[in-house]
Amino acid sequence: MGRYDFTTVVDRRDSGSLKWNPSYLEKLCGNPHALPFWVADMDFRSPPEVIEALHSRIDHGIFGYLSSAEELFHAFCSWARMRFSWDVSADAVCWTPGIVTALAASVQAYTEPGDGVIIQTPAYRPFFSVIRDNQRKVLENPLIYRDGRFSLDLDHLEELMKSASLMLFCSPHNPSGRVWSRQDLTEISRMSRKHGVMVVSDEIHADMTYPGYTHFPWNSIDEQGITCMAPSKTFNIAGEHVSCIVIPDEGQRNSFTSLLSRLSLGSPTVLSYTAARAAYQYGGPWLDELIDLLVRHARLTGSYLSSHAPEIRMVMPEASFIAFLDCSTLLERIGRSRDLVNILGTRGGIALHRGSWFGSAGKDFVRINFGTPESLLEQGLSKLARAVGEL
Ligand SMILES: Cc1ncc(COP(=O)(O)O)c(C=O)c1O
Repeated sequence: MGRYDFTTVVDRRDSGSLKWNPSYLEKLCGNPHALPFWVADMDFRSPPEVIEALHSRIDHGIFGYLSSAEELFHAFCSWARMRFSWDVSADAVCWTPGIVTALAASVQAYTEPGDGVIIQTPAYRPFFSVIRDNQRKVLENPLIYRDGRFSLDLDHLEELMKSASLMLFCSPHNPSGRVWSRQDLTEISRMSRKHGVMVVSDEIHADMTYPGYTHFPWNSIDEQGITCMAPSKTFNIAGEHVSCIVIPDEGQRNSFTSLLSRLSLGSPTVLSYTAARAAYQYGGPWLDELIDLLVRHARLTGSYLSSHAPEIRMVMPEASFIAFLDCSTLLERIGRSRDLVNILGTRGGIALHRGSWFGSAGKDFVRINFGTPESLLEQGLSKLARAVGEL
């Protein structure tokens, strides 16, 4: 038994949660009452230290403008040193409300309309939209999928770099769950310098890297480019909108911050600042327990599927609380054009994320979020297996 509670099922239905919202569930899978395993937030309460810090700030009763986020940046720098042995200067850190904001700002700050921007696919959908919505060109570098595991296609990547100015990288990668090796990153650094491509690395899932794998922040490998981190997924405070964007190069940082100030994107709210700072200062022990639990849930999900729904194969993640499920064998049997998310929603009462949301490379997959108490995960898996068995 750990120190923290990851087993209580907290009712989120009337809390304004997107994940549990009946109309979103209806739109996603045709069933407003489906048990949700889709959007990437967890069903665990945040660390008690975060909740206590918020309580005491709320008791103060006055929520005027924040003077500066400097203490948050210092807490983040200590965190980066402790968790990744990575030395970051607080002067190199900027705040954005979310990491997607930082990706969009990077596209605007460092490229021109018509420029090519590389992403590895399948990709978290906003990677496509921040490029397209800003009239830049998506250059897809599909990951190689072999023996149930995704890997980088470095040869194709170097080809694409010849006609790109920016790469939006995802490390660890959503949805494949891969933690990239030092060799992968060193090779990307070499080629990005050779071809003059700036790398912006989205590391929102990095804090939840599993034992046995090592996450290397992008700027621990290369001083150029950007490392985007956040306490949002890690401590289940995504709705608080705090991200820490590290830009060591002064010129690159000035371009980024001047764009933020043109948009008047100043600083976090007092409550989001309080939550994020407490998370980085006191959240380590809670996170250690969470990671152990996520490893257990990943194994439970994989082994449950292989014994109860063997036509679905789990792509074993190396970090975080989400996994891609390879449904190609099942789709082979029931018909490739069937909408599995809708079938599982309406017949099984479980809401999963549609693989095609991650681009065409994801069309034979669904994504599951296992960041939920074990009792709910077991319910969901049995709904999933029963629905598949009846197809
Ligand atoms: C890879 C990745 N980047 C960014 C986000 C969202 O980030 P934010 O809410 O900070 O914009 C997510 C959420 O699932 C994600 O998986």
